[in-house]
Amino acid sequence: MDLQNKVVLITGASSGIGKAIAQDLDKAGMRLVLTARSQDKLNELASSLQQAKVIAGAITDPDVPQKLLDTTLETFGQLDVVINNAGVMTVGAIEDVDIEAICEMVRLNVESVYRMAYTVLRHFKTIGSGFLINTSSIAGLKTASQYGAYNGTKYAIEAFTDALRMELAGTGVKVSALAPGTVATGLYDRWSQEDKTYVTSGGALQPENIARCVRFILEQPDGVLIPRMLVVPTNQPV
Ligand SMILES: NC(=O)c1ccc[n+]([C@@H]2O[C@H](COP(=O)([O-])OP(=O)(O)OC[C@H]3O[C@@H](n4cnc5c(N)ncnc54)[C@H](OP(=O)(O)O)[C@@H]3O)[C@@H](O)[C@H]2O)c1
Repeated sequence: MDLQNKVVLITGASSGIGKAIAQDLDKAGMRLVLTARSQDKLNELASSLQQAKVIAGAITDPDVPQKLLDTTLETFGQLDVVINNAGVMTVGAIEDVDIEAICEMVRLNVESVYRMAYTVLRHFKTIGSGFLINTSSIAGLKTASQYGAYNGTKYAIEAFTDALRMELAGTGVKVSALAPGTVATGLYDRWSQEDKTYVTSGGALQPENIARCVRFILEQPDGVLIPRMLVVPTNQPV
């Protein structure tokens, strides 16, 4: 896809991977719609970009995906790419885990991804083009002790994306799953030092590294699809 002047909607755009993707796709000449809950952070990011619209809100609100689509079309007249990226990572031992936080994670990492995907894919199918990238994780390809609930959310995204790829074959619409290993972002802000040490034991990618992968996926010719990209720090031991 030639990215110049195309319109991309990015969820979880206020920090980390989503923010880096926004900055990179801005450099590629795309027009951007940025969403997350932190309006101030989004406004600050948007002010550094060429053409960006901010729509702040919780993506877990069932009305938000349609609102995002409608506002994008009203603002820019088109939508070409969606990066379904917002997510959290809640892990822990059986005795310690906060079950309400786990259920909140499922609502964000799975339910809101499904709602966003179905909403924009109906639009993409109607127009016969479009690209959806879901942020998965290496945790969507292999499990780890105490990570089971998070693993489940990302396995769901892997399965969902691959099934969509087959369903969408021949429609002009593309879907991919991007599966990073450890990336240095705010995802681990509330983790204990011990857990952070474990997850970064092989080093960490920078969010810009993931943005570059997104760009590579998007810029493939029409007849080429990368359905999944796994990218990890060189020394990641798992
Ligand atoms: N960092 C890693 O090592 C890693 C590895 C593999 C996969 N991932 C995946 O990458 C994605 C992005 O995470 P990140 O690492 O960039 O972490 P991050 O810096 O914490 O970013 C998470 C983003 O999601 C948004 N968000 C969180 N809860 C939300 C909600 N209820 N409604 C709307 N937006 C919400 C946050 O914005 P607000 O707080 O402003 O709402 C933020 O923009 C996630 O899906 C994560 O699972 C990360």
